[in-house]
Amino acid sequence: MSIHLESVNCFYGGQQALYDITLNCAEGETLVLLGPSGAGKSSLLRVLNLLEIPRSGQLSIANQSFDFKTPPSLATIRELRQNVGMVFQQYHLWPHLTVEQNLIQAPCKVLGLSRADAQARAKKYLERLRLSDFAQRYPLHLSGGQQQRVAIARALMMEPQVLLFDEPTAALDPEITGQVVQIINELSETKITQVIVTHEVEVAKKTASQVVYMENGRIVEQGSADCFTHPQTREFANYLSH
Ligand SMILES: Nc1ncnc2c1ncn2[C@@H]1O[C@H](COP(=O)(O)OP(=O)(O)OP(=O)(O)O)[C@@H](O)[C@H]1O
Ligand SMILES: [Mg+2]
Repeated sequence: MSIHLESVNCFYGGQQALYDITLNCAEGETLVLLGPSGAGKSSLLRVLNLLEIPRSGQLSIANQSFDFKTPPSLATIRELRQNVGMVFQQYHLWPHLTVEQNLIQAPCKVLGLSRADAQARAKKYLERLRLSDFAQRYPLHLSGGQQQRVAIARALMMEPQVLLFDEPTAALDPEITGQVVQIINELSETKITQVIVTHEVEVAKKTASQVVYMENGRIVEQGSADCFTHPQTREFANYLSH
């Protein structure tokens, strides 16, 4: 099992954002998280790389296990983030570094790769994401879709076992959205496990092998992609009909 959550409860101060979340996701699956605004999708995604630390429950991900009875150490959090990458909606690229420099920074610093090895790895991922022409450009001189692809390439540079996406297509036009969908589908041919938060049902349908539907901090429905055509709950059917 690539990801296992058991009875996870997460709070912001006194306010509970996630209630008793239990879910499983096997290696190589593409799990899509859907639900209305405020449902807790981003909170759940952030738990998966410990950007949020739950108050209780257990998490196993990428061969590491946590029981939130005891707070995880910084060293284990750092180790986890090497294996669980995150792609943000706002890209979070360094504006003062070229595309190539953005890509090689973490592998050199965190993984200890030589500059030459990191550059070779960057070349591979820039080719895979059809960005080879842009290696020496600065992020602000790229379109939104190109920046999003650089952000994905940068996450892939760590060769993570799990890749998390928070609304990766929210700021993109339909054509560029299609390119990002294609990249997610190409990645799903590898062993990598992907978890994608999206508001766009079309994006979800084109990428998901597994679906989790949430409302008010709780999982309402989870299952295979079949639940798009055969929703098991009135709530998910209702969400899909809008
Ligand atoms: N940093 C925070 N501090 C306090 N409350 C927060 C914080 N982040 C989220 N929340 C609250 O937790 C709940 C879940 O928020 P979350 O961002 O996980 O929802 P979401 O499903 O991702 O929504 P959206 O679709 O709008 O992005 C909401 O009630 C939100 O107000
Ligand atoms: Mg969100």
